[in-house]
Amino acid sequence: MNLLSTLFTRLGMGLPASAGGFWMPERGSSVATGVDQVFGFILWIALFFFVLVVGLMVIFVLRYHRRDEEEVVEASPHHSTSLELTWSIIPLIIVCVIFYLGFKGFMNLNVAPRDAYEVLVTGQKWAWEFTYPNGYADKDLHVPAGATVRLVMRSEDVIHSFYVPDFRIKRDVVPGRYTKAWFTAPAPGEHRILCAEFCGTGHSDMLATVYVHEPADFQAWMAGVAGFIDKLPPAEAGERISQGKGCMVCHTADGKPLVGPTYKGLFGSTRILTDGSEVVADEDYLRESMLDPAAKVAAGFQPVMPTFQGRLSDKEITVLIEYIKSLSE
Ligand code: CUA
Repeated sequence: MNLLSTLFTRLGMGLPASAGGFWMPERGSSVATGVDQVFGFILWIALFFFVLVVGLMVIFVLRYHRRDEEEVVEASPHHSTSLELTWSIIPLIIVCVIFYLGFKGFMNLNVAPRDAYEVLVTGQKWAWEFTYPNGYADKDLHVPAGATVRLVMRSEDVIHSFYVPDFRIKRDVVPGRYTKAWFTAPAPGEHRILCAEFCGTGHSDMLATVYVHEPADFQAWMAGVAGFIDKLPPAEAGERISQGKGCMVCHTADGKPLVGPTYKGLFGSTRILTDGSEVVADEDYLRESMLDPAAKVAAGFQPVMPTFQGRLSDKEITVLIEYIKSLSE
């Protein structure tokens, strides 16, 4: 491996851990350098053979093309054992090295170290939710620097893909099964989370951030957010929930409808439904719309909202309603 490391350094791939490279974004996790090295290794080999093959082709065409009609074709050797062995054995060795590096990296990415800090990840149309060991859930992922974090991921609806380019990790999030990913982020910082599987209208809005904190700051953050529902006034706690549970991906508080109706002026208004009937948006209507969204769909909207049955506690539903109410005053 020492020889390989030297080779990588010579090829300009031995950059410091945090800097990216010409092709790659910042390296934010412990596995990023290894992934970049394998990528660079394959890229340079491919480039070398591309130039070799195309270069020889051009040279041969220039040198050996038929110059006039009368030219007699010379006899040429039709077989060379040593040449054929060379161009078979060298590529064989190269693909074996690529397989070894790729397989080693693949196993490393797939098997999380023991004693990792576990965060549950839920993908849904169209937001991520991160649930911490103490039960607190957030729309972003907060982790302490240097800690090994293991993600246990599931989907509420369709296939999503959890992707953090800076960490070089990407893993499908599939309904009906659990997929896992892990990482160690050595230094504090912020990194983008994307969804890398086209999952419908809001796919490109399915964004979140990994906040890597100093361990002490992480503890302080967790102490501040845990139990906020009992500490804040109901409408404020409801606003936090609406962001944490991904409501604001489809709803707004400013009067402009998105995928779903806006919350502004919603409470107490008369809603016309898709079947033409009318209903007053009171507490019970809002509650029903969270738990059984397809029951009474407002006219002009698609029945695409997932159910929050089992995902919002009674207390959370109550403060959410208080928040929506506060936007009608
Ligand atoms: Cu979720 Cu794309």
